[in-house]
Amino acid sequence: SAEVKLAIFGRAGVGKSGGFCSHLHKVAPALVVRFLTKRFIWEYDPTLESTYRHQANIDDEVVTMEILDTAGQEDTIQREGHMRWGEGFVLVYDITDRGSFEEVLPLKNILDEVKKPKNVTLILVGNKADLDHSRQVSTEEGEKLATELACAFYECSACTGEGNITEIFYELCREVRRR
Ligand code: GTP
Ligand code: MG
Repeated sequence: SAEVKLAIFGRAGVGKSGGFCSHLHKVAPALVVRFLTKRFIWEYDPTLESTYRHQANIDDEVVTMEILDTAGQEDTIQREGHMRWGEGFVLVYDITDRGSFEEVLPLKNILDEVKKPKNVTLILVGNKADLDHSRQVSTEEGEKLATELACAFYECSACTGEGNITEIFYELCREVRRR
């Protein structure tokens, strides 16, 4: 069966892994765990990097995804290693954290550098859409950045599940497979 290596990048705290979702008084499974289990996970260490294997049937084909949940704090050497390893990338920011949005373009530039001369397959995700009242990055700004990066854009909430996180991962898989 097909194998696809996906890596998730983004500043610490954007919601790659999961943790306590204080305003809802429950644990946010965050992107990776939400995708893998579609339910809440109570024991989960959010700051470590981890890899997961997940099989899915995408368009009548069995695809095995290897998903690397990177740590926002990783150093340059680790990050470049992870970028070399990956075939498809999820660049995540937090819509309530402008700084996390501003870190996306530099990340993409490093990806291009590491992957050249290949084109990088990626998607842009604005997480924490449930916190609209503390929003610092508009949907339009997200769309504009995605146009610049020539990639798909999604806003979602790992907390509430809005934004169809499963489809985000599947779409990235499809794109990797098309290349
Ligand atoms: P590092 O591993 O340190 O790089 O961070 P991370 O990107 O893995 O962030 P993590 O998943 O640990 O989430 C950070 C905090 O954001 C946790 O307290 C989560 O509960 C919270 N969080 C994650 N996703 C959402 C979301 O969609 N909405 C809200 N409101 N909170 C979220
Ligand atoms: Mg994490």
